[in-house]
Amino acid sequence: MVGSVKMIGVVGGGQMGSGIAQLAAMYGFDVCLLDLNSQALSTASSSISSSINRLVSKSHISQATASDAFKRLRFTTNLNDLSVADFVIEAVVESEVVKKTLFVQLDKIAKTSAILASNTSSISITRLASSTTRPQQVIGMHFMNPPPVMKLIEIVRGADTSDETFAATKALSQRLGKTVITSQDYSGFIVNRILMPMINEAFYALYTHVATKEDIDTGMKLGTNHPMGPLELADFIGLDVCLSIMKVLHAGLGENKYAPCPLLVQYVDAGRLGKKRGIGVYDYSKEPRSIKSSSRL
Ligand SMILES: NC(=O)c1ccc[n+]([C@@H]2O[C@H](COP(=O)([O-])OP(=O)(O)OC[C@H]3O[C@@H](n4cnc5c(N)ncnc54)[C@H](O)[C@@H]3O)[C@@H](O)[C@H]2O)c1
Repeated sequence: MVGSVKMIGVVGGGQMGSGIAQLAAMYGFDVCLLDLNSQALSTASSSISSSINRLVSKSHISQATASDAFKRLRFTTNLNDLSVADFVIEAVVESEVVKKTLFVQLDKIAKTSAILASNTSSISITRLASSTTRPQQVIGMHFMNPPPVMKLIEIVRGADTSDETFAATKALSQRLGKTVITSQDYSGFIVNRILMPMINEAFYALYTHVATKEDIDTGMKLGTNHPMGPLELADFIGLDVCLSIMKVLHAGLGENKYAPCPLLVQYVDAGRLGKKRGIGVYDYSKEPRSIKSSSRL
C-alpha cells in the first residue's frame, strides 16, 4: 500500500504537525497541513521555511530538494481538503475528546483505503480507533520531537490494527528515513512510559528542594550522559503535554507512582508551558537558552 501513498494529510500545525509535514515534503510526498487556527498555520509555514533554509545553509539538503519540498506543501483550514489524502497523520492537542471527535470526522471524509494514524504520546489507539468504522486502519505513529531530526518512530498497534496497516505504516516510516520500534497499546507505550516518570521525578526533586533546577539538569546531563536535563527537556516538550501524559499514565496504569507532581500542575495552571510560551521551569524571555534540537519523546 505504501508505494501508492502520494499524498499525506497532517492534522494539527503545532510543533509536531509542522515538523511531520516538513519531513514528509522533504521526502517527496505531497502534503496538506490542516489546522483549525489560521494563525497556527502561518506560524507553521514560517517555522518550516526557516527550518528548511537552515538545512540548506548547513548543506544537509540541496536547494533543489528544498524548492521541491516547498512546492509539495499546502496549508488549509478545511477538513474536506484531506479527502484526497492516502494517509492521514493527526497531531492535534493531547486530548482524547478532541482526538476522538477528529477521528469521527476523518472517518467520514477520508478515502476508504486511507490509513488514519495518531501521533499521540499516550492516548489509547484502541479507543481512538473504536470511534471510527475502520479500526483495522487506525494506528499510532509516534514521532519524536523535532520530527525532521529525531531518528525514531514508535508504532503502536491498537487491538484491531491489521497486519496490512502495520506493514504499510512501517514501510512509510522507513521511507521517511526513520528507525521503527513497535509497542502494544498500553498507556505511554515504550518511550513515554519510561521518560515521563523520570521528568515527573525531576519535578518532585525541585518541589521538595532537593536541589536547584540547574543542578538537577546538570546532574542528569553529565551524570547519565543525557543530551538535555529532564527539566529543560520538559520545557522543550511543553509542560502541558507532560502533564497530559502523566494523567494518562496515572489513569491507565492505576498506580500512585504516576501521580503528576503538584509543581508541574501548578506551572501549567500558571500558563508556564515551557519554551513555546517563553517561560516554563526556565525563563526564556530574558536570555535565550540554547536548547539543542535533540530531545526525546
Ligand atoms: N511536543 C512534543 O514534544 C511531542 C512529541 C511527540 C508527540 N507529541 C504529540 O503530538 C500532538 C501535538 O503536540 P504538539 O506539541 O505539536 O502540540 P501543539 O500545542 O504545539 O499543537 C497542537 C495544534 O493542534 C491544533 N488543533 C487543536 N485541535 C484541532 C483540531 N480539532 N483540528 C485541527 N487542529 C487542531 C492547534 O490549533 C495547535 O496548532 C499531541 O498529541 C502530543 O502528545 C508531542
